[in-house]
Amino acid sequence: MSFKLSTAIVLGLIASLSAVSAQQTCNATTQCGTAAPCCSEFGFCGTDSFCLGGCNPLWSKSLTSCMPEPVCQSANLTFTDFSRVLSNATYFDGNATKYDWIVNSGTLLNSTTGEAALILTETNGGSRISSTRYVHYGTITARLKTGRWAGVVTAFITMSDIKDEIDWEFPGTQTTEGQSNFFWQGYVPNPNDGATHGNLTDTFSNYHDYTIDWQQDTLTWLIDGNAVRTLKRSDVTGSDGVSHYPSTPSRVQLSVWPAGISQSAQGTIDWSGGLINFDDPDYKAAGHFYALVESVSITCADSKSNPAGATSYVFGTNTSSFNPQVAVTNETTVNGAGSLRALSAGASVWSALVAGAALALGAVLV
Ligand SMILES: *[C@@H]1O[C@H](CO)[C@@H](O)[C@H](O)[C@H]1NC(C)=O
Ligand SMILES: *[C@@H]1O[C@H](CO)[C@@H](O)[C@H](O)[C@H]1NC(C)=O
Ligand SMILES: *[C@@H]1O[C@H](CO)[C@@H](O)[C@H](O)[C@H]1NC(C)=O
Ligand SMILES: *[C@@H]1O[C@H](CO)[C@@H](O)[C@H](O)[C@H]1NC(C)=O
Ligand SMILES: *[C@@H]1O[C@H](CO)[C@@H](O)[C@H](O)[C@H]1NC(C)=O
Ligand SMILES: *[C@@H]1O[C@H](CO)[C@@H](O)[C@H](O)[C@H]1NC(C)=O
Ligand SMILES: *[C@@H]1O[C@H](CO)[C@@H](O)[C@H](O)[C@H]1NC(C)=O
Ligand SMILES: *[C@@H]1O[C@H](CO)[C@@H](O)[C@H](O)[C@H]1NC(C)=O
Repeated sequence: MSFKLSTAIVLGLIASLSAVSAQQTCNATTQCGTAAPCCSEFGFCGTDSFCLGGCNPLWSKSLTSCMPEPVCQSANLTFTDFSRVLSNATYFDGNATKYDWIVNSGTLLNSTTGEAALILTETNGGSRISSTRYVHYGTITARLKTGRWAGVVTAFITMSDIKDEIDWEFPGTQTTEGQSNFFWQGYVPNPNDGATHGNLTDTFSNYHDYTIDWQQDTLTWLIDGNAVRTLKRSDVTGSDGVSHYPSTPSRVQLSVWPAGISQSAQGTIDWSGGLINFDDPDYKAAGHFYALVESVSITCADSKSNPAGATSYVFGTNTSSFNPQVAVTNETTVNGAGSLRALSAGASVWSALVAGAALALGAVLV
């Protein structure tokens, strides 16, 4: 019933509208080359920031081309000041000790009451922020107020670098409900995976807590602490043993994005409530459309089991279940602090996880 494209794909299409045409693209069949080894989240080859958040290890030159992903750290992140928000992701060096969030696109505005506003204007293509750290299973709660305008989508999602994705989305004018969805490596495991959860007090005027409780075997979506949907890993494991359950470390992302624009597919426009009306009185009054975020709390599922000194996650090869192995290491995540993956040889790989099972450590780094 609900029509939905992966947020990664939609944002990729928007980004490609302005992409430099000379840039090498990358995908599952054509990985990046030596000169520009890292495949960015939008499928372009490059160096530096291309090797950080969103860098797809399976589409890059090798599994060790992307920088290691900053390990999960439990926290309740608020927006009373922006000292730990980097306003332009291009300048991020991978140091998650310095920043909690990077602004990937658009603008984050502060308010006198301590929340952050993600804004959408006629020209900015919306705004998106990403956590600098990754979550490899955990409970993430965002307290937010959504937009309320046709064509404008508010989203709170987790997104892995190989596009495992878990969503809370709030399309258009539907301010009494939220939609849950999930993707495995960019694909919808079943056509009807999107679900709507309703009967909320106005999500534009009232804060609600939206939770993604992502554990190794169970994924639960909650609103204000009440479970509204549960998915088991076994629900999406095929008879061939391939698990279509989101399984790789993911960044937390919040965004307001323009679905109701002429460049979108008709289904996307319809899903979002129609084309955006930039003559809306709210837009005229504020100068932008917006969604407000008060806090994001993260409880990592793995923080107790990770050894002291754990800094990062790295990818290993695919398993027979077509999910790459993920290892916890002490490799640096900072670009330039020891050069790209130069520490691999001496780094400790403490634990390897795939689909919840421990693996032989020797097999992890290739
Ligand atoms: C993968 O990328 C290569 C090189 O850019 C391109 O020629 C090919 O068409 C792409 N394949 C797909 C399926 O997009
Ligand atoms: C990361 O940032 C922290 C805090 O600003 C700083 O102390 C540390 O030296 C930085 N690490 C690297 C490797 O640059
Ligand atoms: C971030 O910085 C880059 C490089 O200076 C610039 O091209 C880009 O427009 C900036 N992005 C934003 C959102 O300001
Ligand atoms: C919002 O940001 C501006 C510009 O950085 C700053 O001058 C102002 O003090 C901030 N306001 C609040 C309430 O933090
Ligand atoms: C919606 O919530 C109200 C107030 O809690 C309740 O009375 C009503 O039965 C609910 N309606 C549905 C359809 O769940
Ligand atoms: C996060 O901290 C804020 C400010 O202290 C608090 O109001 C909020 O309840 C906390 N959120 C969670 C989910 O713990
Ligand atoms: C890993 O499996 C995925 C399918 O899940 C496939 O697209 C990809 O090419 C495989 N990668 C490697 C390195 O075998
Ligand atoms: C990682 O741990 C190993 C031994 O456990 C140590 O030799 C190495 O220096 C550590 N690397 C970093 C970057 O801390």
